[in-house]
Amino acid sequence: MAIAWSFRDVTIQLSCLVLTCLVVSCHTVRYQPTWESLDTRPLPDWYDEAKFGIFIHWGVFSVPSYVSEWFWWDWQGAREKKAVHFMQENYPPGFTYADFASQFKAEFFNATQWAQLFHEAGARYIVFVSKHVEGFTNWPSKYSWNWNSLDVGPKRDLVGELASAIRNNTDIRFGLYHCLYEWFNPLFLQDKANNFTTQNFVNAKTMPELYELVNTYRPDIIWSDGPTEADDLYWKSKDFIAWLYNDSPVRDTVVINDRWGLGDACYHGGFYTCTDRYNPGYLVEHKWENAMSVDRKSWGYRRDTNINDVLTIEQLITQLITTVSTNGNLLMNVGPGSDGVIKPIYQERLLQVGSWLKVNGEAIYGSRPWTYQNDTITEGVWYTQNNKTQPAVIYAHLLFWPRTNLTLGAPVPSVKTTVTLIGYAGSAFQWSTHTTPGLQIVVPNIHMSDMPCQWAWVLKLTDILN
Ligand SMILES: *[C@@H]1O[C@H](CO)[C@@H](O)[C@H](O)[C@H]1NC(C)=O
Ligand SMILES: *[C@@H]1O[C@H](CO)[C@@H](O)[C@H](O)[C@H]1NC(C)=O
Ligand SMILES: *[C@@H]1O[C@H](CO)[C@@H](O)[C@H](O)[C@H]1NC(C)=O
Ligand SMILES: *[C@@H]1O[C@H](CO)[C@@H](O)[C@H](O)[C@H]1NC(C)=O
Ligand SMILES: *[C@@H]1O[C@H](CO)[C@@H](O)[C@H](O)[C@H]1NC(C)=O
Ligand SMILES: *[C@@H]1O[C@H](CO)[C@@H](O)[C@H](O)[C@H]1NC(C)=O
Repeated sequence: MAIAWSFRDVTIQLSCLVLTCLVVSCHTVRYQPTWESLDTRPLPDWYDEAKFGIFIHWGVFSVPSYVSEWFWWDWQGAREKKAVHFMQENYPPGFTYADFASQFKAEFFNATQWAQLFHEAGARYIVFVSKHVEGFTNWPSKYSWNWNSLDVGPKRDLVGELASAIRNNTDIRFGLYHCLYEWFNPLFLQDKANNFTTQNFVNAKTMPELYELVNTYRPDIIWSDGPTEADDLYWKSKDFIAWLYNDSPVRDTVVINDRWGLGDACYHGGFYTCTDRYNPGYLVEHKWENAMSVDRKSWGYRRDTNINDVLTIEQLITQLITTVSTNGNLLMNVGPGSDGVIKPIYQERLLQVGSWLKVNGEAIYGSRPWTYQNDTITEGVWYTQNNKTQPAVIYAHLLFWPRTNLTLGAPVPSVKTTVTLIGYAGSAFQWSTHTTPGLQIVVPNIHMSDMPCQWAWVLKLTDILN
């Protein structure tokens, strides 16, 4: 009896312990402000499953909309001929960069329309520039007096309007880009002159802004940038990230990138972005993101963009497929005009990606890299797999339409293997194994009007053995 009782006590105590741990555990993991600790945080699943996001560069730089979003620096920092000449030719002497702000009117900005466009584009998240290196905040920051979108220019809270339009109308996750440093901020320049032994800029600007952004808008992504000036001790990045992961209102869902100080990119943080337009072409085990722009020369809108500077839909789909098959997410950038209009060429590109994803989304969203990323025999064939079904389904993304038979060297078929073209109403494709290893697929002549899509085609292969 006594023994039985004590067993029961132990059992009760044990189950209480287990229960307590279960209930409390996800909230008692406290991260320390060190990379050893912060880097152990698992990336919330939603980010890897999302695969495709839209980046939006908007700010005072959208007013000159010339050269790039680095216009202020090109003009008065690097004193590049093109920018200097443009200002001499078109603006009166004494015109300052700050004078552009009143011309940032956003008069046609309709956040609901943007949200609908991003939804049609098939994006699962967006990253909106809250503040670029010029220091102008697209929200009424308490820490950016007279250099924010409510005090001057649009006279509106651009971040707030977009956040609520996205949340009211779509399932898209809302993320924010934020730049650590500012080219011409006197506090920053003084810290820099002090060899970063003082932190007046970080204490007065960078950190208060980041806390304010998170507490006010609850972004699911903080996409930090400008890490090249000083290390993360100067920026106090690790303290901020520890707060973000432990105590912030978005601690369970937020993801971050890797640009938090000198030397961190590609080594520390959440997903890796490494360099702009990073897309190595091979599997990278750590989750990463290809942040790239549809205008190959700029992230901000340029009025003088030539059609040759705009990536074609074939190039964009190639970026999407190669990125996803090698464990990346694609973050595709467009720069709206200062009037708040995303110009039709960029709308079209976004809608084209959306129309492709509408057909082929099952091979992208929630997929994961397969054993092989590209084919071993035929060039231009990239793989993903969807692990929601068992045995796994393999997707072969064809960047070209094969003229006759298609030989795939990587998949090992079983007798049960079927090959179908996603979105095609006709029958499954015949295949044989007269080449080893792999399989040879007989590609039928499909009438153009029966084609499921126009730019890349996805074959679904079931019951593959490897
Ligand atoms: C914004 O666009 C939506 C959708 O087209 C429309 O219903 C709404 O009236 C527009 N808002 C304004 C202020 O124009
Ligand atoms: C979003 O919904 C809230 C609550 O209904 C409303 O107050 C707000 O105006 C909406 N904002 C947009 C941009 O749709
Ligand atoms: C600045 O600081 C770095 C490291 O803290 C040091 O190596 C360097 O000598 C310093 N430079 C000057 C000009 O004080
Ligand atoms: C597959 O990708 C690898 C790595 O980029 C490359 O070396 C190889 O040539 C590619 N294979 C084919 C058949 O294109
Ligand atoms: C699918 O893959 C993800 C990422 O690799 C993994 O976390 C998850 O457990 C897998 N799900 C199934 C059903 O295999
Ligand atoms: C295509 O493959 C089928 C089945 O393996 C084979 O019978 C046929 O000869 C091939 N055709 C060409 C043009 O290679």
